[in-house]
Amino acid sequence: MRILSSITAGLIMVLATSPLQAAGDPEAGRDASATCMGCHGAPGLRNAYPTFNVPKLGGQQAQYLAAALKTYQSGERDHPTMQAQARTLDDATISNIAAYLSGLKADGAGEFGDGDAAAGQAKAQACTACHGPGGGKPLTPQYPILAGQYPDFLAHALRSYKSGARNNAIMKGFTAALSDEDILNLAAYFGSQPSELSTPTNW
Ligand code: HEC
Ligand code: HEC
Repeated sequence: MRILSSITAGLIMVLATSPLQAAGDPEAGRDASATCMGCHGAPGLRNAYPTFNVPKLGGQQAQYLAAALKTYQSGERDHPTMQAQARTLDDATISNIAAYLSGLKADGAGEFGDGDAAAGQAKAQACTACHGPGGGKPLTPQYPILAGQYPDFLAHALRSYKSGARNNAIMKGFTAALSDEDILNLAAYFGSQPSELSTPTNW
């Protein structure tokens, strides 16, 4: 009985965190994402100040992509260019773009970056509970795939949660005690894992 009721509680939690979302139309999303590809479809393109690779979006989870665009719209996530981009999109266009990008899976080879991946792996147990083994199979569709993402972008994201520039209660808690060395090591570990994330080039 006790087991049953905790399973029920777990189901209710999952339902509560899954906003009912109409599946987007990938064809419409392809058209709508033409301006995005100037940056996200250009392998090796880097953001300046701070410098990091523009994140891979191909093969990322659709619900995470949509949620990320909404946090730029609301200002919870700081980045003037992405805020301006996201604010041009309505909810239906966001679903369409998310459906298109999430379908662009590739056999991605990861990169190590500047950190020590073995040391990062030793620290990663707390993370894989949500982001999945190796960061490749997140527990829910709202959590991002980390495996194979650019290590310097992962490190930038972790520093942004720690500083509050990217406002997320869960990730603020998990980054509060990380040193910059821990951040580089975790980024090297997750970034080097094989995944289906890609920078689409044939859009
Ligand atoms: C001028 C270059 C540029 C353009 C154009 C651009 N982006 Fe971005 N995008 C970035 C950068 C840089 C980041 C990382 C910003 C940060 O620090 O949060 C980013 C982050 C993102 C993220 C978060 C990824 C993650 O893993 O957290 C999503 C989703 C995204 N962009 C979608 C889009 C979409 C959709 C468009 C088109 C409507 C677009 N971007 C246009 C540069 C660009
Ligand atoms: C309780 C679940 C949970 C745990 C544990 C967790 N995360 Fe996260 N993580 C999330 C969620 C939810 C997000 C998306 C937050 C947002 O909207 O910005 C996220 C986002 C991220 C991002 C941003 C990815 C991107 O594409 O922008 C990175 C990097 C990250 N987590 C790394 C870690 C690391 C490293 C750890 C362990 C130290 C960790 N996470 C532990 C839930 C978790």
